[in-house]
Amino acid sequence: MSALIQSTPITARTAPVAARKSHSQKTLVSKSVASKTIRLSSFEGFSKAAAPVSFSARASTRRQTAASRSTMSVTAGFKVAVLGAAGGIGQPLSMLMKMNPLVSELALYDIANTPGVAADLGHLNTPSKVTGYVGDDELEAALTGCALVIIPAGVPRKPGMTRDDLFAINAGIVKTLCEGVAKYCPDAIVNIISNPVNSTVPIAAEVFKAAGTFDPAKVMGVTTLDVVRSDAFVAELKGLDMKDVDVPVIGGHAGITILPLLSQTTPSVEFSDEEVEALTVRIQNAGTEVVEAKAGAGSATLSMAYAAARMGESCLRGLNGEADIYECSFVASSVTDLPYFSTKCKLGPNGVEEVMGMGEITEYEAGWLEKLKPELTGSIEKGIKFAAGE
Ligand SMILES: NC(=O)c1ccc[n+]([C@@H]2O[C@H](COP(=O)([O-])OP(=O)(O)OC[C@H]3O[C@@H](n4cnc5c(N)ncnc54)[C@H](O)[C@@H]3O)[C@@H](O)[C@H]2O)c1
Repeated sequence: MSALIQSTPITARTAPVAARKSHSQKTLVSKSVASKTIRLSSFEGFSKAAAPVSFSARASTRRQTAASRSTMSVTAGFKVAVLGAAGGIGQPLSMLMKMNPLVSELALYDIANTPGVAADLGHLNTPSKVTGYVGDDELEAALTGCALVIIPAGVPRKPGMTRDDLFAINAGIVKTLCEGVAKYCPDAIVNIISNPVNSTVPIAAEVFKAAGTFDPAKVMGVTTLDVVRSDAFVAELKGLDMKDVDVPVIGGHAGITILPLLSQTTPSVEFSDEEVEALTVRIQNAGTEVVEAKAGAGSATLSMAYAAARMGESCLRGLNGEADIYECSFVASSVTDLPYFSTKCKLGPNGVEEVMGMGEITEYEAGWLEKLKPELTGSIEKGIKFAAGE
C-alpha cells in the first residue's frame, strides 16, 4: 500500500530552532483520498536529529534536517504489530500508532482482549486498518508482513521491585514472541519495551541468532522514555521550551545504568554540580517515581506509550527514507567494551544505519559510566544465558 502525504511547511517563526527535531511543529498533514481531503492528526514530531558522534556539529545538522523536512513525503504505508497490545502501555501506544500516517495496517496481538481494543480503535477515522489477534495460534497472522514489531508484552513493576525482578516472567514472553518474529517477519525492525530491557534485548538477539535471522540493525531496546523524561525535567528546571530540549541518554535502561549526558544538552545549558547530581539521580529513578505514585497499579504506561510511539515513528521515518533521524536506543554496539549499549543511533531504510559514539563526556559522567558497566554486563550476560537455556 502506498500513500503520498505532503507535509505542511513549518512556519518561519519556529523553524530554525526546532528544526533539530525533525517534525515537532507538524501537527497536521493532509491526505487526498478519492478526491476527498482527510485531515490527520499526526504524532510525528518526535524524532530528534542530533549531530553525529561528538554531537558538536549541531548547526549543520539543523540545516540538513530543516531541508529534508520541508520536502518530507510519505511514500509507503507499513504494517506494524504491537505485541501486548491490550496492556497499560499497549492500548495507548496502539492508539498513537493508529494515528500515524506512516502506518497502513496495525496488528494488535495479546493473550487476551485484543478484539475489543481493535474494535474500539477501528472506529478512529484515520486510514490504517486495525486487526486484533489473540493467542499463539494467531501470532503468525499478526506478524506476517510486518515492517515494525513493538513489544510491550509482560508484567510491569510494583513498588519495591527492580526491573530485574521481572526477568523470571518477561524473559520467557520475549523469547517466545521473538521466535515468532524470526519465523513470520524475520526482516522486521523489533522495538523491545518489555523489561528488563538490559536483558530482553540480548535474549531477542540470541533467539534471532539461533534462527539465523539476526540483524543487529533491527533489534532495538526502547530507552526513549529516559530521553523524554530528561528533556522534560531539564526544560522544567531551566524554564526552556519543552520542544527545544534534547538530552542524550546512554548506557542501559535500569537504575544506575541510565546515564543522561547533561553536558551535551541542546540547547547548551549551564548546570551547577548540585543540579547535575539531582537531575542525574532523578532521571535514573524516574520510573520508580511513577511506580510508587501508582502504588501497585503498575509502572509508566502513558508516558511510555508516548515515548514508544516516538521511537516507532522514527523507525518508520527511517524505513521511509527520510534523512537525519536519530534516536537513543539499546542496541548491539562497539562504542564500549559491552556488547550492547545505548547511544544515539542513526535510523534509515534498513534500521540502525550507524551507532553513534557517546561524544565528549565529563569526568562526572565518566564516573557513572564506570559504575554502570558491571551491572549492565551482568544483565546482558543473564539474558544471553537464559536464551541458551542455562
Ligand atoms: N522500556 C521502558 O522504558 C518501559 C517503561 C515502562 C514499562 N515497561 C515494561 O513494559 C511492559 C508492559 O508494561 P504494562 O504496564 O503495559 O503492563 P500490563 O500488564 O498492563 O500489560 C502487559 C500486556 O502484556 C500482555 N501479555 C502477557 N503475556 C503475553 C504474551 N505471551 N504475548 C502477548 N502479550 C502478552 C498482557 O496480557 C497485557 O495485556 C513491562 O515489562 C514493563 O516493565 C518498559
